[in-house]
Amino acid sequence: MIGRPRLHLRSVGSTNERARELAAAGAPHGALVTATEQTAGRGRQGRAWVAPPGRALAASVVLRDHDALLSLRAGLAVADIAGPGARVKWPNDVLVEGRKVAGVLVEGRPQEGWAVCGIGVNVAVREEDLPPELRVTAGGLGREPADLEPILHELLAALEARLREPAAVTVIALRVRDALRGNPVRWSGGFGVAGGIDDQGRLMVGGERLDSGEVHLI
Ligand code: BTN
Repeated sequence: MIGRPRLHLRSVGSTNERARELAAAGAPHGALVTATEQTAGRGRQGRAWVAPPGRALAASVVLRDHDALLSLRAGLAVADIAGPGARVKWPNDVLVEGRKVAGVLVEGRPQEGWAVCGIGVNVAVREEDLPPELRVTAGGLGREPADLEPILHELLAALEARLREPAAVTVIALRVRDALRGNPVRWSGGFGVAGGIDDQGRLMVGGERLDSGEVHLI
C-alpha cells in the first residue's frame, strides 16, 4: 500500500534524497517520506524547490513496481485532488487558474529496481509566502495548514488508483486536463503548437513527439 511505512521529519534537506537512501537500503514499495520543512528541496531540471514550512506538502514515495508513465500518473493524481479546474502542463506540473500549484520529481535507479516519486503541493501557500519572482507564476490550493494531512491521504489514494489503472485510462484523463493543447510552446529543440498527448504519454508538438524534458507556454 502506498504510504506505509511512513517517516515524517520536521526538517530535512530533501524528502526525495531521504527516500532514495531508504530505497537503496531496501525500503519496500510504497514507503513514504514526508517533511514539514525542506531546506534543500529539489525541482526538475536541477532547480530548487522552495515552500514555506507547514503550508505545503513535501512527500516522496518509494516505488518498486511502476511503468514509463509514472511521472504523468503522479501529476494527474495531484490534479485529481486539486479540483475539476486543475490542469496538467505536460509532463506533470499542476496548474490552477494558470498558476503552478504542484510539481513532481521522479528519480530512479532502474537497475536497482526502484524509483522515488517526489511530490510538492502548495496546499496552504498564500501569495505573500512566495518570493516576489514567483508570485505571477506560482499559486496555492487556497486551503489551510490543518488540511495538509487530509490532503496527503487524498493524494496517496489518488496516486494508488492512478498507478493501478490501465495506461490508456491515464492518457485519456490527461488529455481532458491538458494545459498545453492548442497553445504555442517552446522547448529546447524548437517551438510550435502543442498537439496533445499520444498513447505513450508523449507530447506531440511541431511534428515531434517529446518523451521527456520541459516545455514553456509562449
Ligand atoms: C518541479 O520542479 O516541478 C518538481 C518539484 C518537486 C518537489 C518535491 S517536494 C517533495 C520532493 N522532495 C524534493 O526535494 N523534491 C520533491
